[in-house]
Amino acid sequence: MDLDYINKILITCARGISPFLKNEVEQLAFSVESSHDTGVVIRSRFIDTYKLNLELRTAFNVLFLLKEFRCVSPDDLYNKTHQLPWEDIIPENEYISVVSQVSNPKIKNSMFSNQKLKDAIVDRMVKKTGARPDSGPDRRNIVVNLYWKDDKAWIYLNTSGTKLADRTYRKIPLEAPMQETLASAVLLASGYNGTCNLINPMCGSGTIAIEAALIALHKAPGLMHSNYGFMHLKDHDKTYWQNLRKDALKRSEKKPSHFIIATDIREEAVAAAVKNAKTCGVDHLINFKVCDFKNTDIPAGKGSVILNPEYGERMGTAEKLVKTYKEIGDFFKQKCRGYSGFIFTGNLDLVKKVGLRSSKRIPFYTGDIECRLLEYDIH
Ligand SMILES: C[S@@+](CC[C@H](N)C(=O)[O-])C[C@H]1O[C@@H](n2cnc3c(N)ncnc32)[C@H](O)[C@@H]1O
Repeated sequence: MDLDYINKILITCARGISPFLKNEVEQLAFSVESSHDTGVVIRSRFIDTYKLNLELRTAFNVLFLLKEFRCVSPDDLYNKTHQLPWEDIIPENEYISVVSQVSNPKIKNSMFSNQKLKDAIVDRMVKKTGARPDSGPDRRNIVVNLYWKDDKAWIYLNTSGTKLADRTYRKIPLEAPMQETLASAVLLASGYNGTCNLINPMCGSGTIAIEAALIALHKAPGLMHSNYGFMHLKDHDKTYWQNLRKDALKRSEKKPSHFIIATDIREEAVAAAVKNAKTCGVDHLINFKVCDFKNTDIPAGKGSVILNPEYGERMGTAEKLVKTYKEIGDFFKQKCRGYSGFIFTGNLDLVKKVGLRSSKRIPFYTGDIECRLLEYDIH
């Protein structure tokens, strides 16, 4: 099966992030056909999935549609999947992993549809090549995604394989770290593009500051990954991929000229943030300091101050935090004039203690917890 044709590409993301993912996709000059809570859809060539995997900061997975069909039973799923020329897509000795999301009253367990789909692929491979590919949960090789809703099914090649959200630099996550793609989305939502200062008190493991450094460098987050699903396909275009990487590397050589400052009251948090930034190769771009957030140096100039305080769900208790949120408001008023202040939190009662009126409230999610990024203009 020649994959050199235009088809639907579904780019998935965490709930609430799709407006920022949509912007990113459009900035790469793709036109978005539709978007929903956990993804955006474009129509493009298979080879474009390489660029999407390399460049997108807020995406989870890039999925290329192989087949969309009416599906009324597990046998139907097996037969229609078996018709696809898998032997032209998958090399004989590759390892396959299947991921299903099923919303069909007849199917109680998505493991069952995983098995059916995997059997159809493996049986087809055995019939056409004589070789039986291995299969299992490991997503570092060929990954096939199935969505099955009522009587409709979609089969996608997962060109990312593992989640793009795991940038691989966070060796020491600490407790309550922000997912890398969420940190990127928060920065993009704040309007950060590397051309002003970025101050991140309460930095924890440093995710926001590190993602800011990557944005300021114009460094493609995919440069940190060495393995993608598309690399395991039969017709992987190594030259095209190497050239894309080379171009992205050249672009990322510029040194940003604005401050990125990350502080935390806990020594071990700052030590972890420094280590993570080193792993990511951006430690020289961030000024780290152990201090109470109120003592963070705010350089003259313009920029954003972004705090992600504890909010009583995973760390600390809401009572203890009342004082902290009040002090954040005072800190904004007394030390951050001229800057835009941002608080990312999952506790809107605590936000009332800040004592400032927010100019924007952008919804996000951390797992199931509804969160907000609140913006304060501190003039
Ligand atoms: C929710 S965590 C931040 C997580 C971070 N966004 C990440 O990705 O790892 C909150 C952080 O605030 C820090 N913190 C709590 N009170 C503080 C204070 N008064 N001054 C500075 N940092 C504080 C904690 O040590 C913790 O690391």
